[in-house]
Amino acid sequence: MIIIKQINKLRDELAIRRKAGKRIGLVPTMGYFHEGHLSLMDYARKKSDVVVVSLFVNPAQFGPDEDLECYPRDFKRDEQMAKERGADIIFYPDKDEMYPDPFFTYVITEELSKVLCGSSRPIHFRGVTTIVAKLFNIVQPDIAVFGRKDAQQAIIIKKMVEDLNFPVEVVIAPIVRDADGLAMSSRNTYLSHEERKQAPIIYQALQKAVEMVQRGELDAGSVEYSIRQQIETASLARIEYIKIVRERDLSPVKVIEPETYVAVAVWFGKTRLIDNVVLKESI
Ligand code: PAJ
Repeated sequence: MIIIKQINKLRDELAIRRKAGKRIGLVPTMGYFHEGHLSLMDYARKKSDVVVVSLFVNPAQFGPDEDLECYPRDFKRDEQMAKERGADIIFYPDKDEMYPDPFFTYVITEELSKVLCGSSRPIHFRGVTTIVAKLFNIVQPDIAVFGRKDAQQAIIIKKMVEDLNFPVEVVIAPIVRDADGLAMSSRNTYLSHEERKQAPIIYQALQKAVEMVQRGELDAGSVEYSIRQQIETASLARIEYIKIVRERDLSPVKVIEPETYVAVAVWFGKTRLIDNVVLKESI
């Protein structure tokens, strides 16, 4: 496995491999790996010959009051984990490499980036789509793998690829959870002992919602209410939103229909956790 910090160097290395007929897979990350990230590397490995993992804590997707400074970082550990998991190249650029000063050009997936997490994080998805577009142009991967954990992000990236004709196949991999159901996240390390103990309530509430829908409850309001009631039994939980939306355009549904999912954001102390489950698959 090689570590590359320069865009030009990465381009040169990839050109050699592309010329030899290799398929290139990209896994964009912000590091501090857990099994969720590693599962994406497995997917990339299966579907391509050269696995490029980008590791860059992207300042453009953090709001002014967010956790950019204290976002967990441990490059040595990440390097070891990615190597063990069969990554071929880690692209680990500095901020100056990715954002020349001044930097003026952004990619915005208009409506989709304003709802759900976008309501409280107004510049977040602009930062995500911009960095991912840059990575697509730098790496020119055949496939790129993202996690369903960040469902809105995955949907926005798919739409960006469709709208702007990026020649890349976007693969969405399932959510990897801890044994008690909590979706793995680099931010889980912020949780206190007591917060961590209570956090699995989120997935328990979502699972109960799936069961309700399976038993025939199709009223989105009732399902939302049930999720809210359950999560509120955790004394440290503060709900930011619970929304049942169409996969296609993230618009809210009143009656649960195929391709609908429920997304939640819940605070435990200073930590914001997100999770989602599909309520009804496509028919
Ligand atoms: P990061 O939070 O590091 O996540 C990198 C990738 O891992 C994303 O596609 C995310 O959805 C996926 N992932 C995180 N936790 C997961 C889990 N428990 N199960 C499955 N997949 C999981 O998401 C980002 O970084 C950034 O926004 C990025 C796309 C790299 C752009 O900066």
